[in-house]
Amino acid sequence: MNVYDSELIAVQMAAAGYQQTSSLEKADLVILNTCTIRAKAEQKAFSFLGRLARMKKKKPGLIVGIGGCVAQQEGAKILKRVPHLDLVFGTQAIDRLPALIGKIEAKRCRIVDVAMSENPELFDPAPVQQNQRPISRFVTIMRGCDNFCTYCVVPYVRGRESSRHPDNIIREIKTFVDSGVKEITLLGQNVNSYGKKEGLLSFTELLARVQRIEGLLRIRFTTSHPKDFDQELINAFQSNDKLCNHIHLPVQSGSNRLLKRMNRKYTKELYLDKVAKLRDTCPEIAITSDMIVGFPGESDADFDETLDLMRKVEFDGLFAFMYSDRPNAPATRFKAKISETQKSERLQILLALQETYTKKKNEALIGSVQPIIAEGFSKKQSSGSLNESNQAAQWTGRTSTNKIVNFYQDDIPGNCGDIFAGKIVHVKIDKAYAHSLWGKPVAIESTAEDLKGEKSYAA
Ligand code: 5AD
Ligand code: SF4
Repeated sequence: MNVYDSELIAVQMAAAGYQQTSSLEKADLVILNTCTIRAKAEQKAFSFLGRLARMKKKKPGLIVGIGGCVAQQEGAKILKRVPHLDLVFGTQAIDRLPALIGKIEAKRCRIVDVAMSENPELFDPAPVQQNQRPISRFVTIMRGCDNFCTYCVVPYVRGRESSRHPDNIIREIKTFVDSGVKEITLLGQNVNSYGKKEGLLSFTELLARVQRIEGLLRIRFTTSHPKDFDQELINAFQSNDKLCNHIHLPVQSGSNRLLKRMNRKYTKELYLDKVAKLRDTCPEIAITSDMIVGFPGESDADFDETLDLMRKVEFDGLFAFMYSDRPNAPATRFKAKISETQKSERLQILLALQETYTKKKNEALIGSVQPIIAEGFSKKQSSGSLNESNQAAQWTGRTSTNKIVNFYQDDIPGNCGDIFAGKIVHVKIDKAYAHSLWGKPVAIESTAEDLKGEKSYAA
């Protein structure tokens, strides 16, 4: 979501006459977009602001602004704490940014704008034109959250849930597709409740509309809340050809006692039941999740329930976090806090268990042919760590199930130099690592046909 918001900020400032620079030293204006989901993210934001103090000493005309969730949470306090800061703007102030910066340029004043509304007008900007022409883009379909999980800061810093009008979403995606985008990820804290408050389309109806956009090859979304995840959405995986075979379904814990204290509104059994139904309909679907270890009061027995759930589901991937107290979140006031040492021990146990499943799932793909959309050069190549003999382009893309696949362009029989970003490449997987797969391309396509048809290629 912050990636998308940063793009909006860039668009706003471009309209106000600013150009983006890749060199911090050259900047006349630095906007820091922040996250406060865990304490560590907030600390990172403040340490970056610290670095900017030295820059501002050398260049007094530099304008420094902080936006996003840390700005929303701390407001005017940040101006006191950071003397070289000019602007604090909240999560609902992005559309006011050019006016705020204009005022600072004219008057060299310091401004705080963290106003929030119960029913925020969803800001619908002109879609971003980017130089790099990425093939995959995020599109926010809703903002805020009404769920109030007791550990979570989001409802306090992003406000109440509100959905964007489908016409604006479709218009934005079409503009992206016209500029070469092949895959979009629809973003919301709880996509299942898309449009409900406003009486717009349901999420599955929105998916059906997005599917009809010509030239778009793949649709992903995040995040679905397990309490609202239902058969209608399960069916969409079957009926919607462009919807990728992957769902991120954050469970947070396997202990019913903790799920209740977290205010998640489902039980371990209900979660397992939904996973079973999903796999009944879509046996090949990849399921990933989020897990929190060390929530206040988490006993050994609670933690064992989490490990048990993991053994039962065998997630394709898992994002695991140590519980962190957040301002305003009710769990901050819960007793029986778990020590950092114990949190860290549990995290290690959990990650070691998950690794066995991630590996197992990746190894199961060896020998199969996976259609991927070529995204660009792989990270290894971009960082220049390849040796001379390997200078042949090393490409990267993702399977429908969201697994990273790397391959060499030179391995394509008789098709040297034929790959470009956005091409569908069928890659035969021959190696599986912890977080990526390696393979040999066996065919390149220019159409969307067979994109979801991995099964017919399985060896
Ligand atoms: N402490 C640790 N992890 C958290 N998350 C959200 N709030 C906290 C917190 N206070 C995790 C959840 C969520 C993910 C985005 O971040 O697992 O799904
Ligand atoms: Fe936070 Fe819960 Fe909302 Fe997710 S659903 S953003 S965890 S309050």
